[in-house]
Amino acid sequence: MTDIAGSFGILRLPDSIAFGDGARSGIPATVASLGQRALVVCDPFLESSAPFMELLTGLDRLGVAVTVDSKVVPELPVDVVEAAVERARPANPDVIVGYGGGSALDLAKLIALGLAHGTPLNRFYGEHLVPGPVLPLVAVPTTSGTGSEVTPVAVLADPERELKVGISSPYLIPRAAIVDPRLMLGAPASVTASAGADALVHAIEAFTAHARTPLWREPLPVFVGRNLLSSTLALEAIALMGRSLRRAVKDGDDFEARSQMAYASLLAGMAFGTAGTHLSHAIQYPVGALTHTPHGLGTGMMLPYVMQAILPTDTDSLAEIAKALGVGTDSAKESAQSAVDEVAAIMADIGLPHDLASMGVTESDLPRIVELSLTVRRLVANSTLEPTEENVERIVRAAFIGDRHELIPRVVGTVNESETQA
Ligand SMILES: NC(=O)c1ccc[n+]([C@@H]2O[C@H](COP(=O)([O-])OP(=O)(O)OC[C@H]3O[C@@H](n4cnc5c(N)ncnc54)[C@H](O)[C@@H]3O)[C@@H](O)[C@H]2O)c1
Ligand SMILES: [Fe+2]
Repeated sequence: MTDIAGSFGILRLPDSIAFGDGARSGIPATVASLGQRALVVCDPFLESSAPFMELLTGLDRLGVAVTVDSKVVPELPVDVVEAAVERARPANPDVIVGYGGGSALDLAKLIALGLAHGTPLNRFYGEHLVPGPVLPLVAVPTTSGTGSEVTPVAVLADPERELKVGISSPYLIPRAAIVDPRLMLGAPASVTASAGADALVHAIEAFTAHARTPLWREPLPVFVGRNLLSSTLALEAIALMGRSLRRAVKDGDDFEARSQMAYASLLAGMAFGTAGTHLSHAIQYPVGALTHTPHGLGTGMMLPYVMQAILPTDTDSLAEIAKALGVGTDSAKESAQSAVDEVAAIMADIGLPHDLASMGVTESDLPRIVELSLTVRRLVANSTLEPTEENVERIVRAAFIGDRHELIPRVVGTVNESETQA
């Protein structure tokens, strides 16, 4: 049973969250309640879609003046973001809407920040450096993945930095999140897989994040580690994704699977938006920069190796994950191993790469990947594994050769051969 007396709970969330088929019809009224001049940041692929047209008609009916910006580019280079801030100024918006994948939502967050506090944005890289509220944001995701609709972070690329950079501040949490699974139906299988894999990583890394009792002094860190509230949400998200991720990738028209994924990625965003993520994310940062592969492909590929590495330090959490995934047994150690194997099988079934080499990483890249991963201190320190160079090196090397056996200590060495090679 969970030790509630010896634990703590923290969540920071939007003022309102709406989930469900049809929730999109509430977007205009939500926007109108926050402002009268909306800047709508929209994924270019969705600009001429029927639901987006309905949104514009609905806003017009409520007398909201609308400017649309659809110049969303993946990876969000900082100069593109700052140009978007300048483009937005003449319309003088008082509310920002993000409509699209994680890239569109993050661009909306960064425009809301730039309009409120000015550019250059590099003054805000890091945690708690946003000086005050940004323009009110309404976030409408069209992928089931990032959870950006509820998180306090936006990620962008700066050519002056080798790694992508994050701006993390509770002020970046959207005021309203509206999640309608109907909007995800168009996402192609490759996007469903990489975004969905990332959502599963968010849930599992939030659930296995290091538990650190806070000092209860404001400001608390943006990411506080595993806690009662985030763990409840993360575990439910894991259970749902265990049932629906494969199905959503296999058949994009499977509305039940799409709905479960949309709900689960929302829950995972709520969980990791407070608890934080850890090693798969830290290692994906340099891998993504080197190979220009989608964020979720890298985090999803790394997750089974990271789980294998933390198994000895966090067996009980992995055993709980196994139960949520329907592969638990009476033995905690066996269950924990089954959780790792099941996650590896899910990633393989949805077509994610199995190892770093197949993502284009060469052996000579490994030392730099280790070195750069370790610079993302907030992430490496959020794991239950001691964030040493040796530990990160072992994980990266095992992921390079594609063999989790490398990470199995002798005491656990009963892993099923065929499953670990999946
Ligand atoms: N802020 C956060 O909390 C957070 C968390 C994780 C990742 N991220 C960032 O989010 C980005 C990844 O987001 P993503 O995985 O949603 O991908 P994405 O936003 O880059 O979109 C991927 C592709 O899918 C298309 N697409 C989106 N929705 C679609 C739909 N319904 N139908 C058809 N096509 C659609 C987009 O146009 C794009 O071409 C990365 O930049 C990552 O760093 C942010
Ligand atoms: Fe992620």
